[in-house]
Amino acid sequence: MNFIFLGPPGAGKGTLAAQVAVSYKIPHISTGEIFRAAIKAQTPLGKKVQAIIDAGGLVSDDVTIELVKDRLSKEDAKNGFILDGFPRTIPQAEALATIVKVDAAVNFDIADEAVVERLSGRRVCKGCGQNYHLAFMPPKTEGKCDKCGADLYTRDDDKIESIKHRLEVYRAQTAPLIDFYREKGALVDVDARPSTDKILAEFEAKFPQK
Ligand code: AP5
Ligand code: MG
Repeated sequence: MNFIFLGPPGAGKGTLAAQVAVSYKIPHISTGEIFRAAIKAQTPLGKKVQAIIDAGGLVSDDVTIELVKDRLSKEDAKNGFILDGFPRTIPQAEALATIVKVDAAVNFDIADEAVVERLSGRRVCKGCGQNYHLAFMPPKTEGKCDKCGADLYTRDDDKIESIKHRLEVYRAQTAPLIDFYREKGALVDVDARPSTDKILAEFEAKFPQK
C-alpha cells in the first residue's frame, strides 16, 4: 500500500513509520531525513536548506517535489511506501496525485502540549537515525544508541523557538491537507497519544496485510 503520514511535528510519524516499514516490508521515505542527510554531507542541497530547516520553515515546493519524484521512481518503491512528512502543502499534494495513487493518508491526532514534550526530550542517533526520548523511550546506556552504539544528538530544530514555529507552519500550510484527503476518501485518523506498541497494533488492525 501507498501510505502518507500526516501530522504535526513530534506526533510520532517517524517512529511509527520505522516500525511499519519493517512489518510491511516497504520503504520509509522521510523528506526531513533526506534533507538532514544532505546537510550532514554538506551537499549543494544541504547548504541550500540548512538555515530554513534549523528555523523550522518549509523548503520550497519545487525542490521538495523534485526530490520525492526521484525517490519514488526507485525500484523499492514500486510495491508500496510510507511517505513521512510529504506532502506538507496543497501544491505538494496535487503534484503527488499526478505521480502515484495514495491509498491512505494517516492523520496523527495529538495536542500541542504533547508535541512540545515529545520534541524537547527527543534524541536521535548520529549513526543510524534511530529515535529516542529521554523519558518515554530512553536508550539503555545514556547518550548511546542501543542499535549501533553511536552517540545521540538533539536536532537543531528541536529548540523551543523552532518547535513553536513548526507548529504554526503546520497549522497554516499542512493542516489543510486533512480536508484535502478527507474529500478524496483517503483519510484515516490515528490516535497518536498512546504507547508506540498500541499505535502499531491499531495501525495493523486498520490495514491488515494480505
Ligand atoms: P521532519 O523531519 O519531517 O520533521 P517534523 O514533521 O517536524 O516531524 P518530526 O520528525 O519532528 O516528528 P515525528 O512526527 O517524526 O515524531 P518522532 O517519531 O520523531 O521535517 C524537518 C524539516 O524538514 C521541516 O521542518 C522542513 O523544514 C523540512 N521538510 C521536510 N519535509 C518537507 C516538505 N514536504 N516540504 C517542505 N519542507 C520539508 O517522535 C518525536 C519524539 O516523541 C521522539 O523522541 C520519540 O521517541 C517520541 N515518541 C514517538 N512516539 C511516541 C509515543 N507513542 N509515546 C511517547 N513518545 C513517543
Ligand atoms: Mg520525523
